[in-house]
Amino acid sequence: MARLKIGVLISGRGSNLQALIDAAADPGYPAEIVLVLSDRPEAAGLERAARAGIAHQAIPHPSREAFAAAANAALRQSGAELVALAGYMRILDSDFVAAWRDRLINIHPSLLPAFPGLHPQRQALAAGVRFSGCTVHFVRAEVDTGPIIAQAVVPVRADDDEERLSARILTVEHRLYPMAVRLFAEGRLEVREDRVVVAGATAPGASLLNPSEALASRGG
Ligand code: GRF
Repeated sequence: MARLKIGVLISGRGSNLQALIDAAADPGYPAEIVLVLSDRPEAAGLERAARAGIAHQAIPHPSREAFAAAANAALRQSGAELVALAGYMRILDSDFVAAWRDRLINIHPSLLPAFPGLHPQRQALAAGVRFSGCTVHFVRAEVDTGPIIAQAVVPVRADDDEERLSARILTVEHRLYPMAVRLFAEGRLEVREDRVVVAGATAPGASLLNPSEALASRGG
């Protein structure tokens, strides 16, 4: 089986990169990571790539255009067919985004289009929403926009702070990103009028209430 070649862009810890590395360790998984790039040489994610024997490179501190040109050249050289942003914290050059249109994906820890940009978990708590979660989407030029591939819902608890909510969302990110990459690799995603159609997709049947109905049935 020819596996889809993916390049991963990171800036830091790289736990989502690790989730993809772990998924790809299964020979039955339809994608493999061929290159990891970071804009920060100290990114812990580079160590993860090294441990997994994956080619990796830091492209430190140039301008946005210079990073895009160097990243694009390295990705083309590696044979990457899909680029996954995994905690890549800089705004990407618009020419890079255009060059990889519909082959460039991102994961964001909120239910987009709610709470784009920095600190989405903090934004969710400040807004008082009862559910947040994470989104995998194709990347467009504007930050955290683009056709949505998959989402996961995480209930907000009354005693949540930013750290606790972030940790619970992150656990689900690690399931969602490998699943979304799998769907892409299996050729099941089609972008139609800037929305994603997933071949053979089924939505879960259950609904979730927060607070749960048990509270109301106790008579308050
Ligand atoms: C994740 O929450 C991801 O959704 C966001 O940045 C964070 C990166 O974490 N874009 P990690 O580097 O993958 O651990």
